[in-house]
Amino acid sequence: MARKKIALIGAGNIGGTLAHLAALKGLGDIVLFDVAEGIPQGKALDLSQCGPVEGFDSQITGSNDYADIAGADVIIVTAGVARKPGMSRDDLLGINLKVMKAVGEGIKANAPGAFVICITNPLDAMVWALREFSGLPHHMVVGMAGVLDSSRFSHFLADEFKVSVKDVTSFVLGGHGDTMVPVISYSTVSGIPVPDLIAMGMSTQEKIDAIVKRTRGGGGEIVALLKTGSAYYAPATSGIAMAEAYLYDQKRVLPAAAYVSGEYGLNDLYVGVPVVIGAGGVEKIVEIKLDDEAKGNLQVSVDAVKELIVACKGIDGSLN
Ligand code: APR
Repeated sequence: MARKKIALIGAGNIGGTLAHLAALKGLGDIVLFDVAEGIPQGKALDLSQCGPVEGFDSQITGSNDYADIAGADVIIVTAGVARKPGMSRDDLLGINLKVMKAVGEGIKANAPGAFVICITNPLDAMVWALREFSGLPHHMVVGMAGVLDSSRFSHFLADEFKVSVKDVTSFVLGGHGDTMVPVISYSTVSGIPVPDLIAMGMSTQEKIDAIVKRTRGGGGEIVALLKTGSAYYAPATSGIAMAEAYLYDQKRVLPAAAYVSGEYGLNDLYVGVPVVIGAGGVEKIVEIKLDDEAKGNLQVSVDAVKELIVACKGIDGSLN
């Protein structure tokens, strides 16, 4: 059987890390695409030279030509500008919308059968725009945010409860940004919900509230520390988990920015919800029961995403 083909649009910090992980995990041959000349080629060469040490045979190539992504099975999009200190994800909107247009058209012309995972921020608006520009079916275009947000949440919870991250499952809904909705009652340690753990004296409501706040600002905390860019190891790891779910038909239940048509009473937008990802792409949106607080928080998040979509339509008339 021929190897799978993974195309990475954007060969910056996340793109390079995605390529490294995909090669180490043997996901397939890898094409790194970028508008910057030399960067994808240089990274591809450097990464290829890991092969003899690690023992992987993936072909890794760099390109500035969309024709080279032809036939890709999975495409992960990180093209665009990353957040600088003081810049909100939303400030990125105008710049990255133009990038999504070019990327969407490149995918439409060269790899319309791919499963596309968008990572570029502001995520919920960019994945929507990328789907519009590419014209791919909605279930084949998804945004990566929830896996990262819930991984951040799980990391902080494991630290607080002093337990293995393996035993922590956390649940995050809504938009990627300050309005994301970490759902405490569905977050557990080996099946024990966080509210029960608080009742057992293993933490306090105040501490969990502080963790929720830190999770919401998780990206900004790293931007402030790095000063020259935004997080890339955990975003790349999260994107690869979604690619594996598709390539290996794992039917994983993951939080992702997916297109809703009626689920949660929402329509015509991408927002973070639990989905099943398998060989069919986004095979199902899982509708969980939310309490009034989570419902209210989700609505705030959805309103923020809707505002961004309106702003996108204002910038690019073809989206109306
Ligand atoms: N087409 C292809 N690549 C592009 C385009 C374009 N039109 N415009 C910019 N790029 C490339 C840049 O040349 C750069 O190599 O996208 C890459 C982005 O890389 P970084 O600046 O290192 O950003 P990174 O940390 O990888 O984050 C990428 O993901 O999480 C989000 O907020 C983050 O939107 C940002 C994206």
